[in-house]
Amino acid sequence: MKQKSILAFSGGLDTSVVVKYMQDMHDMDVITVTVDVGQGDDDNKIAKKAKKLGVKKHYNIDAKKEFVTEYIFPAIKANALYQKKYCLATALARPLIAHKVLEIAKKEKVSSLAHGCSGKGNDQVRFDNTLRSGSNLPIIAPIRDMNLDRETELKFANKHGIEIDSVAKKFSIDQNLWGRAIEGGVLENPYNEPPDDAFIWIKTKNLPEKPTYLKIKFNKGIPVEIDGKKMPPVKLIEYVNKKAGSHGVGIVDHIEDRVVGIKSREVYETPAAICLIEAHADLEKMVHTKHETKFKTLVDDEWAWLVYSGLWDDPLRKELDKFIEQAQKRVTGTVRLKLHKGNVRVVGRESKYSLYSHDIATYGKDSTF
Ligand code: ARG
Repeated sequence: MKQKSILAFSGGLDTSVVVKYMQDMHDMDVITVTVDVGQGDDDNKIAKKAKKLGVKKHYNIDAKKEFVTEYIFPAIKANALYQKKYCLATALARPLIAHKVLEIAKKEKVSSLAHGCSGKGNDQVRFDNTLRSGSNLPIIAPIRDMNLDRETELKFANKHGIEIDSVAKKFSIDQNLWGRAIEGGVLENPYNEPPDDAFIWIKTKNLPEKPTYLKIKFNKGIPVEIDGKKMPPVKLIEYVNKKAGSHGVGIVDHIEDRVVGIKSREVYETPAAICLIEAHADLEKMVHTKHETKFKTLVDDEWAWLVYSGLWDDPLRKELDKFIEQAQKRVTGTVRLKLHKGNVRVVGRESKYSLYSHDIATYGKDSTF
């Protein structure tokens, strides 16, 4: 009987190549798992793609809500920005995907676990660490093990009739509800400005002349209401992405230090993350003492570093979460952001737990200080 392996499958170039490779070179039956964290892909199309590749079984799991409540909300509470810039969209999704793979691996009694990560990126570390936290099965990573480059992969895909869409040929993309990462191609020269067609969430031309406002209400550190409307978690993130993106807000372009020691040029579209973290951090400063503010910055930095490094399941992350949770008790209130032609700025905040005192702060004649 053939051995059974399970693969986290996105339907993109890497994981499609891996399916074929495992079937042909390892003579294995492959079970694919696609975890929907808001990639915006058509689940049926991915299932069809998997079928066409001849997989034994395909699972599709809608984890969008869990992604927001269990991963994105904790990231907002931690004001999580790796190296002050990157909202960790990809880094947050990987442990969730790996946990879902582990669940199905148990059910299907597979003999190995597989992923399509390369040896140069961070995701291999995130998958390996999380898969290892729940299983001792061998981990197969053909792209990494054979050191396949994109060109070789594209040739392989062509030869085996694997379809790849045109944007994927120009850039390497990873996207979910929390952000869209764009790498490769002309972006590999860090001096090159990203071309307009790199962006699909954020408007870069003909931006509205008039500014708009975004009113965000937080309850204990969690955004619950936008522009006066209560919104369920997934819808809330989508709404902010759309509104901020339409005003050109949310592009991040920076040099990032990868876990494996490589510096990379990263371009992101992360409108909701930029707005929600900016607003949350501002509200925290209004309700926290200066000592809390100073210390929490250290905790936040460590949290982002751990998550970036694939250490979601490290006990330290959970311990930091306890502190962060405790520090959210008074993070209730409303923040007003102004969006205009690619800029975002906090223009107002209020909270019943505010430590700001007008009487003390005023420079006017009734100062009580
Ligand atoms: N640099 C980011 C991270 O490591 C994003 C990686 C995105 N991957 C991609 N194939 N474009 O989390």
